[in-house]
Amino acid sequence: MPLADATIPVMDRGFLFGDGVYEVTAVIEGRLVDDAAHLARLDRSLREIGISNPFPADDWRRIEEGIVRRNALRNGLIYIQVSRGVAERAFKYPDDLQPTVVMFPQFSPVQDNPLTRTGARIMTLPDLRWARCDIKSTSLLAQVLAKRAAAEAGMAEAWMTRGDTITEGASSTAYIVTQDGAIITRSLSHEILPGITRRTILRIAGERGLRIVERPFTRDEALTAAEAFYTSASTIAIPVVDIDGHAIGPGRPGPVFTQLYTAYMDAVM
Ligand code: PDD
Repeated sequence: MPLADATIPVMDRGFLFGDGVYEVTAVIEGRLVDDAAHLARLDRSLREIGISNPFPADDWRRIEEGIVRRNALRNGLIYIQVSRGVAERAFKYPDDLQPTVVMFPQFSPVQDNPLTRTGARIMTLPDLRWARCDIKSTSLLAQVLAKRAAAEAGMAEAWMTRGDTITEGASSTAYIVTQDGAIITRSLSHEILPGITRRTILRIAGERGLRIVERPFTRDEALTAAEAFYTSASTIAIPVVDIDGHAIGPGRPGPVFTQLYTAYMDAVM
């Protein structure tokens, strides 16, 4: 239906409690990127918070493809949100709720981000999120505040820290490339979202014989890295040229980033 006609009851738990999960999938040249993996992560997020998945993967796929077709969406995103449903406001929820499903397209082309060519300046700040960052929860207050702090400082993204180490970006996976060419990104745990773009980027890096090490890395390591970059469905991959005012590498997209980005775009186009 037209967006202006779509409504959600005020008592929806997604609205009142942030009691729901979501997915963001890129559409490039009319094709959904890594759709099966996004739908599998949606299924896992739902299971982890005890909402039954309203559709099998094939039905999700058909609905997504219908949205792409009917909106003539060539390049952009599909947003999916599933919340627990509508009930009188109480922390404890009834067992028989019908999940609320919202889906819409977004039209900004993900592969035409000028930051891919110029590189991004980013900042670090403390990771204020809860202990289950592997669930793609719609409760995003910590990320909203991190993004605002970054924007106020004129930065494109915030990398969040726990103790000395970087967890991930406010809405992206964080990587550095060491001076001897190894790609470092944090290993999967409850502390980060298992990025779908991360999965594909690491596969492509492996196929090209690049050295990958999945482990936490410190802010100090990032400041002295040869290269740094971040990935997400909504940005694909963005090179980082400055962290907290320290120039990273040559101040432009580095060779490892450029090789990976080109290979990724070849693989999904
Ligand atoms: N965010 N880490 C966090 C905290 C994220 O919010 C995201 C994506 C990622 C990257 O995951 P993926 O490669 O699967 O997009 C990592 C989406 C784009 C968003 O919230 O809009």
